[in-house]
Amino acid sequence: MSTWANLGLQDSASPLMEQLIFFHDHALLILVMITVLVGYLMFMLFFNSYINRFLLHGQLIEMIWTILPAIILLFIALPSLRLLYLLDEINEPSVTLKSIGHQWYWSYEYSDFNNVEFDSYMIPTNELENDGFRLLDVDNRIVLPMNSQIRILVTAADVIHSWTIPALGVKVDGTPGRLNQTNFFMNRPGLFYGQCSEICGANHSFMPIVIESVPVNNFIKWISNNVNSSVDESPLT
Ligand code: CUA
Repeated sequence: MSTWANLGLQDSASPLMEQLIFFHDHALLILVMITVLVGYLMFMLFFNSYINRFLLHGQLIEMIWTILPAIILLFIALPSLRLLYLLDEINEPSVTLKSIGHQWYWSYEYSDFNNVEFDSYMIPTNELENDGFRLLDVDNRIVLPMNSQIRILVTAADVIHSWTIPALGVKVDGTPGRLNQTNFFMNRPGLFYGQCSEICGANHSFMPIVIESVPVNNFIKWISNNVNSSVDESPLT
C-alpha cells in the first residue's frame, strides 16, 4: 500500500509488476541521460562564440543526430513491446474472479465456486476501526490464493470503471457490455489495495478494492464456507 511521501511505485507483489518496475527504471535512466546531454548543450550555448560564419551545412552531424535518437527509441520500444505481450499472456489460471463496477462500489463473483457473489463497499470514515485505512478499506474483501495464476474478468453495470491494483500491476477498464480479461500472480501473502481509476462519477474516489492474499488452504476454507451465501449476506460472517 502507498503511504504518505511515497512518490515512486509501490513494492511489487507479482512478477509482472516487477518487470514493469524494471522497465520504468530503464526508461527513466535513458530519460535522465537525454536530459543531461540536452541540458549541457543548451547551457553551453550561452558561451557560444560566432566562429564558422560561413558554415551552411553539416551532412555528417545531421546523419548522426537523426539516426541516434531512432536507435535510442528502439531501446525503449523493444522492451516495452516485450512487456506488452507478457502482460497479455494467460497461463492456465486456477481461479477466475469476475469483478463488476457499479456507481459506486464493486461486486464480485467466483464463478468457479457455485457462483459465490458479494458486494464490496468502502467503509465510511466515521465507521472506520482505529487500524482501518481511510478511503481504502472495504466491508467485504476479495480473498484469493497466493502463488497461483488468477484470472480477472472485469465489466461494469452502468458507466466505465477501472479495476486497478498498483502492487500487482493490474489496471483493467470495466466497460458496460464488454468483458475484459487479465491475469496476475501474487507471490506473497498480505493485503493489496487499489482504487477505481476511471473517472466514473461523483463518488469515483470512494470505490476502493482490497485483495486478501492467503495460502491456498485458507482460500479453500474461506470459499467452502461461503459457497451458498447470497448477494446480500456478507461472505465473511
Ligand atoms: Cu468507478 Cu471511478
